[in-house]
Amino acid sequence: MEEVIWVANLSFWYPDGQRALTDVNLTIYQGETVALIGPNGAGKSTLLLHLNGLLRTNGEVKIFGRPIDDKNLRWTRSRVALVFQNPDDQLFSPTVFDDVAFGPLNMGYSEEEVWQRVKTALGLVGMAGCEKRLPHHLSLGEKKRVAIATVLSMSPEILLIDEPTSNLDPRGKWSLISLLRGLAGTKVVVSHDLELVKALCRRVIVLDQGRVVADGATDDILADKPFLAAHGLAPGEAAEKA
Ligand SMILES: Nc1ncnc2c1ncn2[C@@H]1O[C@H](COP(=O)(O)OP(=O)(O)OP(=O)(O)O)[C@@H](O)[C@H]1O
Ligand SMILES: [Mg+2]
Repeated sequence: MEEVIWVANLSFWYPDGQRALTDVNLTIYQGETVALIGPNGAGKSTLLLHLNGLLRTNGEVKIFGRPIDDKNLRWTRSRVALVFQNPDDQLFSPTVFDDVAFGPLNMGYSEEEVWQRVKTALGLVGMAGCEKRLPHHLSLGEKKRVAIATVLSMSPEILLIDEPTSNLDPRGKWSLISLLRGLAGTKVVVSHDLELVKALCRRVIVLDQGRVVADGATDDILADKPFLAAHGLAPGEAAEKA
């Protein structure tokens, strides 16, 4: 199987000294859909930011065998698309159309192709016909959908998606799960929603305090309730006391 994402001995501190990742090692193969789970502050979003070069490393991350460096950054960004946890970090244009068209325009597609891609991507996330709306006027769930459309319009080979269903209503959540399931390519999905993880991912990586504490089959990891509780992923003692 082809190695698509390769991370070796990755540690990272934010400039204020906050340690976010410690000696992370992982390999993700072509066509996998992998869940990245862990408690708040575990380092999940920080890890995703390293996988498309928004946070840079010294060769500890490779995409299709190429280190993310100055030379490969553009190449990497055309293959790896990231949906941020917070849609306000993704949407910056005056209209929904401009936001969703941004990627395809940068990739050099014709005007006709860009229109088609925007229309298709908005349709996929249930936002058809919203091209002229103002992104900052949308509800949180609508923003999340448009943020997802901004990357779907690029048909990326690798999709990194941070909390895709937070703020989506149940119908929106399940239609997104089925949409993601139908997408080709390699996907890394960060989520606190274990229902989504079960439905979408055969493999789970658990991060806690910046370290990988488990990497294996979803069925095995989600069946281990004491392990989940120990890493803040199941109700645990607090629920018993309540
Ligand atoms: N810009 C930043 N500057 C300083 N520290 C940061 C910054 N962003 C995140 N951190 C810290 O890095 C650690 C990892 O944060 P990160 O956002 O990656 O966690 P997460 O697993 O995505 O959490 P959540 O489930 O809450 O989204 C946390 O301790 C967090 O406080
Ligand atoms: Mg996060």
